[in-house]
Amino acid sequence: MVEVERLLMLFRAFRERDDTAFYKAAESLIAEELTANHHGLAQELQEALGQSRPRRNASKSGNGLSTLPRDRRSGEQLISVQERPVDTSTLILTPGTEQQIRRVIQERENRLKLARCGYHPKSKLLFWGPPGCGKTLTAHYLAEEFNLPVGLVHLSALISSFLGDTASHLQRVFELAKASPMVLLLDEIDAVGKNRDDPNDVGELKRVVNGFLQAMDSFFSTESIVIGASNHQYLLDPAVWRRFDDVILFPMPGPKDRLQFVERLLNGVSYEGKMDSVAKKLAGLSFADIERVLVEAVKTQILQDRDNLTPSDVAAQLKSFKQPRSMARKRSEQRADE
Ligand SMILES: Nc1ncnc2c1ncn2[C@@H]1O[C@H](COP(=O)(O)OP(=O)(O)OP(=O)(O)O)[C@@H](O)[C@H]1O
Ligand SMILES: [Mg+2]
Repeated sequence: MVEVERLLMLFRAFRERDDTAFYKAAESLIAEELTANHHGLAQELQEALGQSRPRRNASKSGNGLSTLPRDRRSGEQLISVQERPVDTSTLILTPGTEQQIRRVIQERENRLKLARCGYHPKSKLLFWGPPGCGKTLTAHYLAEEFNLPVGLVHLSALISSFLGDTASHLQRVFELAKASPMVLLLDEIDAVGKNRDDPNDVGELKRVVNGFLQAMDSFFSTESIVIGASNHQYLLDPAVWRRFDDVILFPMPGPKDRLQFVERLLNGVSYEGKMDSVAKKLAGLSFADIERVLVEAVKTQILQDRDNLTPSDVAAQLKSFKQPRSMARKRSEQRADE
């Protein structure tokens, strides 16, 4: 989006006294500066904006997100609501994934049109794919698009060793999402949706999965969205993934995505080599790993007071990133041979 449009958004939000829209425009301006590597300016803007972001929608419904459900025995919170904005401006989706996400947005934007014909927009999504490929980031992106907070379910607290507690925890979490508009994010959903045919199961698994199925079946909201994320879609009980309106794969980046991501990350950095050869060197890495290697390389350049990033900075970081992983692999191969 061009800067003038952002400024117009800011001004309109101010005129209409719409705090949420104002913060959204201001934060996207800050994200833009971060993407351009203007970290100093971004920080100044952030400081000028302050931390007091309005609680989106929570106050609108007045239904008390401040009283989040907890485990009655341990007192542990079952869910936390994340209001802190996540920078989603660097998000890159592979074409197939992007098409599905666009469709989710389009359905939501046209929900009245759909409702007139008796249809609902997709509201239960299953994201799956290897680690570090954008599942959580896209959940935040959708939250931002729909101006909703993200309710992150704490599965460790939710799954209780006490009979029946897990099902009641699930019900309470889904009840909250029904009452307060949010993106309800169940990360590592395989923990509650495992295949009930597991031979090691002693019965509890069946109860947990059945509790989840019931919670999903009784969940209906015109505003909230449930997103389950998993690295292992095939561990999920087939009945679980039938409950989702759409199953969206987040694959490892292909050559084009990699190049686009590298260009975005190195935007504003003076690089001595060619971007496409960096992108080739980083083949086989997830988005998260690519980011980690490049951020470390840029930090090294800064710490050494150099003006340019060099191909050997990247190569050195890639080597130190891969080393512990290849050692771990060798060790596990050795163990398997013994
Ligand atoms: N598609 C992407 N586009 C841009 N950045 C990405 C993408 N995927 C991952 N990243 C970067 O990696 C970080 C971690 O990604 P994210 O948490 O979304 O991965 P995930 O798929 O949820 O992984 P996990 O399965 O381990 O939970 C992001 O915060 C972002 O910086
Ligand atoms: Mg994740």
